[in-house]
Amino acid sequence: MSKLLGIIGYPLGHSVSPAFQQAALDYCGVDARYEAWETPPEGVPQRVQWLRSPEVLGANVTVPHKEAVLPLLEGLSETARRIGAVNTIVNRAGRLEGHNTDVAGFMRALREEGGFDPQGKLVLILGAGGAAKAVAFGLAVAGVARMTIANRTVGRAQELAAAVEAVPQVRAVALTPEALTGDPPWDLIVNTTTLGMAGSPGEGESPLAEAQVPPGALVYDIVYNPKVTPLLATARRAGAHTLGGLPMLVYQGAEAFRLWTGLEAPVEVMFAAARRALWST
Ligand code: ATR
Repeated sequence: MSKLLGIIGYPLGHSVSPAFQQAALDYCGVDARYEAWETPPEGVPQRVQWLRSPEVLGANVTVPHKEAVLPLLEGLSETARRIGAVNTIVNRAGRLEGHNTDVAGFMRALREEGGFDPQGKLVLILGAGGAAKAVAFGLAVAGVARMTIANRTVGRAQELAAAVEAVPQVRAVALTPEALTGDPPWDLIVNTTTLGMAGSPGEGESPLAEAQVPPGALVYDIVYNPKVTPLLATARRAGAHTLGGLPMLVYQGAEAFRLWTGLEAPVEVMFAAARRALWST
């Protein structure tokens, strides 16, 4: 029997997961179709119930349902439980398991594509939403020495700072130039806000000015469209190293692929399909 996979979110117009997951399934000879399952909030319980069907291998979950699906599942990985967000569901014979592969995807991209070892480093995280949680958790576990979390709504930054354990120094501030002065130069800056994202109200905007970027830092924007975001362009002018969001997108998908199929994901095939879907290159 041909199997099914898909992504649950609302709206889903922007998702490139169907393109690169289908490419990986086809390359590996897995008889399965990966579909876009746009699901409004009121439809989530029914959609999750249906995932228990024998033909369904599992699903990805994206904005705004990553938290809403938690209580509907039978099991949670340690990471998903600690972050309180699920982006991957695996159907194990009618029993649904929730995972969070955003953390693994972010960390693999940081180490392999960014060549960055977070141990003992000084980091700045821009934003305090769902994506920031995965980033902060991954960096905390990897042993950063100091973390500043800057967000437009400072209360959300404070909540996230309080939830980050095992980092010797954590500071929550507003996302303003004044609030961001006074830190020693950051080794790593990660943007998790939607500023600069194509099609968003913040399109064309950079969360930092050139003078705020230390020349030797790595600036990692998890926004993957456009390829060179306004922040990355600013960072290049400042003489910093840069990393875009595509590797995180592909590596979180690669980890989900492994969980569903038990196979190592063909990441080069996934990168090529994602690039074609996003940028037609
Ligand atoms: P995600 O799950 O993708 O992280 P989210 O939880 O909605 O999405 O978080 C979006 C992040 O982008 C938040 O940090 C948000 O700041 P607020 O907490 O103040 O809303 C940030 N963000 C969105 N638009 C912004 C803007 N115009 N200026 C600054 N920050 C913005």
